[in-house]
Amino acid sequence: MKYVLGTVVVFLAMLACLAGATDIRALVLQRCQGCHDLAKNCDVASSDRAWWKGMVERMVAYQPELLTPVEVDAVSRYLAQESRRKELCQQ
Ligand code: HEC
Repeated sequence: MKYVLGTVVVFLAMLACLAGATDIRALVLQRCQGCHDLAKNCDVASSDRAWWKGMVERMVAYQPELLTPVEVDAVSRYLAQESRRKELCQQ
């Protein structure tokens, strides 16, 4: 019984993660193409989280209402993952 519960909890946590990632992807698609296209993100090869955070903060400095501080964290964490960037840039 313990095993079953554990599996369910892990499964739900994974679902929550997936849902979160999808939201962030939508957020980037929605907010980050106003001044330039996605190529700007797709051209970057770095997966350095600190670099991405500074970069996203710079975008917000250009347009302060672009993202909340929580969204800045989520977006920079998202973009610092190569697999996420690939997924984003596939279209
Ligand atoms: C208000 C206009 C504006 C918006 C909105 C905007 N950007 Fe930018 N972005 C720029 C400008 C201008 C540059 C080139 C100058 C620079 O790098 O600061 C740029 C450059 C970039 C670069 C290249 C940085 C480098 O050093 O190679 C990336 C990556 C990027 N933007 C990502 C994003 C993301 C992600 C978002 C959404 C959170 C976003 N941008 C939203 C204006 C914008």
